[in-house]
Amino acid sequence: MAITIQQTEDLQAIHELDRACFPGDKPSLDDKKWPTHVWWTAEDDGVPVGYIGLNLHPEVASVTRVGVLASARRCGLQKRLIRTAQRYARRHAYNKLETYVLTENLASLRGFVSCGWKPLKLEIQGARQFLWLYSVLT
Ligand SMILES: CC(C)(COP(=O)(O)OP(=O)(O)OC[C@H]1O[C@@H](n2cnc3c(N)ncnc32)[C@H](O)[C@@H]1OP(=O)(O)O)[C@@H](O)C(=O)NCCC(=O)NCCS
Repeated sequence: MAITIQQTEDLQAIHELDRACFPGDKPSLDDKKWPTHVWWTAEDDGVPVGYIGLNLHPEVASVTRVGVLASARRCGLQKRLIRTAQRYARRHAYNKLETYVLTENLASLRGFVSCGWKPLKLEIQGARQFLWLYSVLT
């Protein structure tokens, strides 16, 4: 399984993965520009099966999106993608990363916690509850 950085001008693979990983959601990546983002895909024999987006905003760096196709789940891919983003942010002189995850999304939460992320705060949006997490990059 190879993890490959993507050009922000060509996010077709990312869009397709995003739609497949969040089938009930209104596509949130389409029609947006991502000037401060870096994206990676995980590819199995050249076929994209997972992705992650890292926003290197000048003030705060955050993981904005991560997903793995159902056929490739539970093999540690989310953790590999998170660690890839962590290493990249560290190399680019960030000392902290943030993200937020729906509290009911145990698979995603466990992946971040396994990569050393810690809970920061809870945020309630209507009926949905999100846990903000942070990672100190040492
Ligand atoms: C969440 C998601 C990215 C996990 O990807 P994955 O490659 O299967 O995750 P990993 O194999 O790296 O496993 C990460 C951890 O979650 C656990 N896990 C994976 N799937 C799980 C499940 N369905 N239920 C409970 N735990 C689960 C793993 O055991 C592992 O835990 P550990 O580190 O304590 O051993 C994937 O399920 C997905 O794309 N879901 C839909 C999109 C989504 O929810 N994205 C995240 C939004 S923030």
